[in-house]
Amino acid sequence: MSALKFLALAALAAASPLEERAKKPKSFLKDLGNSTWVLGNEIWNVTQSRQYANKLMYKGADRVGDAVGHYVSYNGAASDLAWTSAAVVDSGKDWINVKFTAAEGDFYWVIYDDLAGAYQYFVNHNLPTLGEFRTLWRLDNVSFPNGHTNVKDGELPPLAEYGDATNVQDETWEKADGTFLTKYDWSAFLRDQTYYGVYGEDVGSWYINPGKDYYNGNQLKGELMVHRESRTGDAVQLNMIHGTHYQAVSRDSFADGKVWGPWLWYLNDGSKDDAAARWEKEESAWPYKWFNNKPYQSRGKMQGKLVLSDGRPAAGAAVFLGDNNNPTLSTLDQGQNYYYTTYADEKGKFDIHDIRTGTYALYAWGNGGAIADVSTSFTQNDIVIRKGKNTNLKELTWKVTSGKKRIFQIGDFDRKTDGFGVVDPSVPYKHDLISDCPANLNYTVGSSATSEWCFGQSAIGTWSIHFAADTTAAAQLTVSLAGFSQGVSCDLLLNDFKVGNITSKSLANSQDTYRGAVTAGEWRLLEFPVAEGGLKEGANRLDVKVTRGSVWHGWLWDSILMDTV
Ligand SMILES: *[C@@H]1O[C@H](CO)[C@@H](O)[C@H](O)[C@H]1NC(C)=O
Ligand SMILES: *[C@@H]1O[C@H](CO)[C@@H](O)[C@H](O)[C@H]1NC(C)=O
Ligand SMILES: *[C@@H]1O[C@H](CO)[C@@H](O)[C@H](O)[C@H]1NC(C)=O
Ligand SMILES: *[C@@H]1O[C@H](CO)[C@@H](O)[C@H](O)[C@H]1NC(C)=O
Ligand SMILES: *[C@@H]1O[C@H](CO)[C@@H](O)[C@H](O)[C@H]1NC(C)=O
Repeated sequence: MSALKFLALAALAAASPLEERAKKPKSFLKDLGNSTWVLGNEIWNVTQSRQYANKLMYKGADRVGDAVGHYVSYNGAASDLAWTSAAVVDSGKDWINVKFTAAEGDFYWVIYDDLAGAYQYFVNHNLPTLGEFRTLWRLDNVSFPNGHTNVKDGELPPLAEYGDATNVQDETWEKADGTFLTKYDWSAFLRDQTYYGVYGEDVGSWYINPGKDYYNGNQLKGELMVHRESRTGDAVQLNMIHGTHYQAVSRDSFADGKVWGPWLWYLNDGSKDDAAARWEKEESAWPYKWFNNKPYQSRGKMQGKLVLSDGRPAAGAAVFLGDNNNPTLSTLDQGQNYYYTTYADEKGKFDIHDIRTGTYALYAWGNGGAIADVSTSFTQNDIVIRKGKNTNLKELTWKVTSGKKRIFQIGDFDRKTDGFGVVDPSVPYKHDLISDCPANLNYTVGSSATSEWCFGQSAIGTWSIHFAADTTAAAQLTVSLAGFSQGVSCDLLLNDFKVGNITSKSLANSQDTYRGAVTAGEWRLLEFPVAEGGLKEGANRLDVKVTRGSVWHGWLWDSILMDTV
């Protein structure tokens, strides 16, 4: 402490000793030596050592127990951050900010005296180029028997069930009754989360991540959220701040100063209603005014209206503000900067507030509904967001294919399997569901329902589309896949003549289909020309003939269609 500051404090203390003592925060950091610290407040505390924080004391018991506790790691379990020092770097009358330093960057816990839990954030200094970067709690499995996300709630499968089952794939076991155990069934779309975590009768431990601009990926970025640790039985609550799951490319390098968070790690008595109320409170307080970080506080907003080149509004379109001039990475695979998402309204209008200042590209794609026929996407670079300003993009024209005739289309263009058979959009992750799709099927355009086309294709066999055409003109076959895991190949045959294929040679692998993604993984668009005379006047048949099958691998269907050119 500087001499001046000490004098000032001394003077204050002299002026009003009782008042000054009352203003000292009750939250604390205690250095026990040997790289061990205790931090917390009168409600909870935890003991942090070089890597792991354990002995989480809350409501009269140790809530980590024999589990591993809290840590920060990258590239799987390969690299846990090791804390070399800890200090209270800032404080107010009822809060402290504790910084833990590692070679890669600094992890902060902002602890308010009356808060069960802490705000946490990480500031990068020297992280390597990486795929996975996460913080997590591995907690006592008696206190926290259940998991919760926005799409799944219930008991985490007990460890004993794993012992009696056969391992059939990474982190996947088949039980004697033929059903499966896999942590991936606890995945969810990250940006749809409100509160999620693990809970029991007395206690709940939750992650509440308002804003979400520090996450990688777009609206359909899936991640593993909670699970049972299959070796130890720990109840695991993940905070995948840069995840690799369900996408094709995820390696990124980060600028010095990139911030993940702050998010809230929140403890309560296990009440989901209370956690939901806390989510509302945090979401409305975002971006946090208390966070003393200049780039974080420097934000503007934008608005615009997307109109299709045929005059229709881009009703309900997915809108993504992402990397400027990045034609190589899909919106799902972008991840080194900050990202913002929304959906246009029925008039094609959209707005996003509290965007970090900078230059972005705006991306948009159809999300079904009134524009389910639109197979093109929209990109506009060089969108500048200025502090405290509104960037009004006014009307943006989204080119759709025009002057063409659609001969048939199965499924909406929305980058999702919604509408097809077997899948239920409210259950977006379910291992082995793809095995319920048939090897062979016939679909007749005009009389078959969309639900007669199955959501995913994996097995050797032929799915035939029977359709009528009144032309022999040149055409284009468009295949839109909502996901693809290598190992399955097909030929696309128009009236027995090969016009295209789906193979591992032409498509990178994404770990989506085989890890139980049934709504969406990494989207792919394939376009194949059909020469004049390929179509016949009258009855035609397009076969999707799988020549190489592989259980659980293959593709998720978004849409398949044909246009004349
Ligand atoms: C310091 O901590 C390590 C483990 O973190 C332990 O093995 C060692 O015994 C401790 N040393 C002292 C002097 O407490
Ligand atoms: C942590 O909490 C436990 C249980 O409430 C308490 O006994 C212990 O003294 C606390 N630790 C510190 C350093 O305050
Ligand atoms: C909890 O973990 C212990 C090991 O610490 C394990 O023996 C037990 O089976 C686990 N309980 C459940 C419900 O998985
Ligand atoms: C599809 O239709 C063809 C006749 O066009 C028939 O031979 C085949 O058995 C049918 N496949 C299925 C799975 O119904
Ligand atoms: C498969 O399709 C790609 C285009 O997507 C093409 O380049 C390749 O030659 C085709 N392979 C076979 C074996 O037909």
